[in-house]
Amino acid sequence: MGLKSRIETTLEAAIAAGQSGSVPPKLASALGYAVTPGGARIRPTICLNVAVACGDDRPALSNAAAAAIELIHCASLVHDDMPCFDDADMRRGKPTVHVAYSEPLALLTGDSLIVMAFDVVAKAAESDPVRGLKLVRELAWFTGMPGGICAGQGWESEAHVDLSAYHRAKTGALFTAATRMGAIAAGEEPDAWTELGARIGEAFQVADDLRDALYDAETLGKPAGQDEIHARPNAVQAYGVQGAIKRLNDILGGAIASIPSCPGEASLCEMVRKQAERLTPVAPVVARSA
Ligand code: IPE
Ligand code: IPE
Ligand code: MG
Ligand code: MG
Repeated sequence: MGLKSRIETTLEAAIAAGQSGSVPPKLASALGYAVTPGGARIRPTICLNVAVACGDDRPALSNAAAAAIELIHCASLVHDDMPCFDDADMRRGKPTVHVAYSEPLALLTGDSLIVMAFDVVAKAAESDPVRGLKLVRELAWFTGMPGGICAGQGWESEAHVDLSAYHRAKTGALFTAATRMGAIAAGEEPDAWTELGARIGEAFQVADDLRDALYDAETLGKPAGQDEIHARPNAVQAYGVQGAIKRLNDILGGAIASIPSCPGEASLCEMVRKQAERLTPVAPVVARSA
């Protein structure tokens, strides 16, 4: 089975389990709405690529790790779009969960998906409890406080923002989780994989800032120009468009250089190159405000 099918099959099974039995129908429907169809699935793709590069001797555990990361990501988007955060009405080209369902159901959808992510890993851990427990702890670290998305979103409520801590936690966390958890699922020591995840995450943040500044809402499938509207510090403001593109490519070059030696090293380099191509805005680019 290809990596894409492994991700989708595992996600679908998790959502179906969450919808089974005598459950509130609207919340059950909102779970599926928030997860499928997905976006780029970049985090689980990275996770499985690392697992495969490390030998992938427990594929069910790798699938669970990848799906769990994507479930946390989807939950974070549902909450991030709510009126108390970014108040966004579109995501992945369709109305956000609170618009399509309601605010209470969006809150519960995010909550349910977070809990589901941990359950997916815990279930798969039956085949290898030692690796499973490590995966649960990684997921907790990169989701909550002090090292995860909660910390990242929390910075938005502070008057003084530590920018690198903000980006590292808000965006970088799940990319670092992706490489580290891919390694753990395959029985490898995760520390050697931290830098790759962190660098891809940093590059992704620059790419997201570029897309936010350059593309329209229709192309993005979500509101555009948000960094300017919310006065968020961003790479385009700091370096200009061409400077940000250069920075994106420099960071990804560093990411490639950081790949630990492993059986699948060459194909991992190829994956990062492909992501770089996908993330770099197509030239010539024209600033929306120009
Ligand atoms: C969007 O992430 C949120 C950020 C961290 C900037 P993605 O661009 O990966 O979203 P999807 O999953 O592809 O929709
Ligand atoms: C959302 O961040 C990602 C989370 C960590 C929840 P942003 O608010 O910057 O991204 P978009 O523009 O909504 O995708
Ligand atoms: Mg936000
Ligand atoms: Mg947002």
